[in-house]
Amino acid sequence: MKKIIIFCLILAIIFCKCNLLKTEYPNPSKNLITFKLNDNFKTNATLSQLGQVQMQMNLFSQETYFTSPDCVNCQIYGTKEDRPFICNKEEYCVEHLQAIGDVDQYFKANGSVIDMNLILDSIEFYLSRGIYVKWISQQQQGKTYQYQGIGLALTNCVQSTFLRSLYNQAKIENFSYSLYYEVDSYNLIVGGYNQSLLAQEFYNLKSVSERRSDPYRIADDLVFADLYFNEQNILKDAQVLLDPTIDGIILPRKLFDQMNNILLTQRKVPDISAFLPEQPGIWSSLNAVPSFQIQFKLDDPDAYSKYLKVNFDALTFNTKNQRGQFTPRISFVNIIDENNQFYNVVRVGKILFQQMMYFKFIQIEDQTQKTEFRGLAPMIKIQQK
Ligand SMILES: *[C@@H]1O[C@H](CO)[C@@H](O)[C@H](O)[C@H]1NC(C)=O
Ligand SMILES: *[C@@H]1O[C@H](CO)[C@@H](O)[C@H](O)[C@H]1NC(C)=O
Ligand SMILES: *[C@@H]1O[C@H](CO)[C@@H](O)[C@H](O)[C@H]1NC(C)=O
Ligand SMILES: *[C@@H]1O[C@H](CO)[C@@H](O)[C@H](O)[C@H]1NC(C)=O
Repeated sequence: MKKIIIFCLILAIIFCKCNLLKTEYPNPSKNLITFKLNDNFKTNATLSQLGQVQMQMNLFSQETYFTSPDCVNCQIYGTKEDRPFICNKEEYCVEHLQAIGDVDQYFKANGSVIDMNLILDSIEFYLSRGIYVKWISQQQQGKTYQYQGIGLALTNCVQSTFLRSLYNQAKIENFSYSLYYEVDSYNLIVGGYNQSLLAQEFYNLKSVSERRSDPYRIADDLVFADLYFNEQNILKDAQVLLDPTIDGIILPRKLFDQMNNILLTQRKVPDISAFLPEQPGIWSSLNAVPSFQIQFKLDDPDAYSKYLKVNFDALTFNTKNQRGQFTPRISFVNIIDENNQFYNVVRVGKILFQQMMYFKFIQIEDQTQKTEFRGLAPMIKIQQK
């Protein structure tokens, strides 16, 4: 009898453990494709008659798109350097059906569907269901239209056409990607992650799950965190948008007075210029500069802590100007928001991806059941410039 009880106990412990381990990160797949992207999260692409062009990668759109010479209003919102792409049958580019879609956060487009060969950073594959843009409409004023782009959005209901093309051609085994910044470029690894770069395992971030309207339509990479400035809490339940296209941290303007007060009470006032929303202070040395911490909320039932604390040390948190002076990598934006919907949105860029690897994956349980995970893991120190 005793033996049976002990046996049951052990069994219960094993089963319990299995349940808890459900959110554990999978071992990385062997089929990985690494893309090198520049500082602005753009990749080199080779397009038949255009030769080499840069394509903007975007975490918040699912579409891969090219701009047709027929798009007249694209010229209004684009730049002078932008050149349209000619879809040529002789070069295996096939145009069919009508298409509409959001090409990024700022522009909607219509045109046709195209299938074509694409060479990205010397990796060749067949892209299915791209959008051949013939007309755009702007969703927000003052934004520049990028002529060619690749969306990476990945949620349980949205899968990027780029990732789907790679998956359907068995170039990757999983709907997943990871990214980090190193020296002067981003590494985007499609299909999994490189385990040998991790100092710890991934922490599962708590996502803001509600869907919303512009400008963060795909709430995809919005996660909850608490923010600390000089060890003082400045915002609880911030909704953090991980955005590799920006450099530092973009904060809502409402936080400025609070941060200024913290500096005044601690007498850590900038020694060269005042702390202003337009210019958050200039310091002559790194000894007195403020510090910043983001405490990401976690979704793991078996994590040691409820938070993943990311510290930005003086050297990371500040940029050096030509005179050898230091300024924090923060800026403030006025968020005009009648419904208080975006009031707590904070954007974090390269400053985070320099020390943490981000990993996003979709677990397919069966045809109807898909679960999305987003994790951050501290990386072993890599030499930054
Ligand atoms: C893209 O191509 C340019 C020109 O050949 C090169 O200088 C640059 O390093 C490339 N960028 C990446 C991210 O590989
Ligand atoms: C795109 O939409 C505009 C405005 O609704 C319309 O005038 C145009 O004909 C459409 N173009 C295509 C290619 O569907
Ligand atoms: C993973 O990173 C290590 C260390 O930088 C590197 O040597 C290795 O080639 C990388 N593996 C892949 C699959 O990229
Ligand atoms: C990735 O794909 C492999 C092969 O199909 C599968 O064994 C593994 O469970 C997948 N991982 C995830 C996270 O879906």
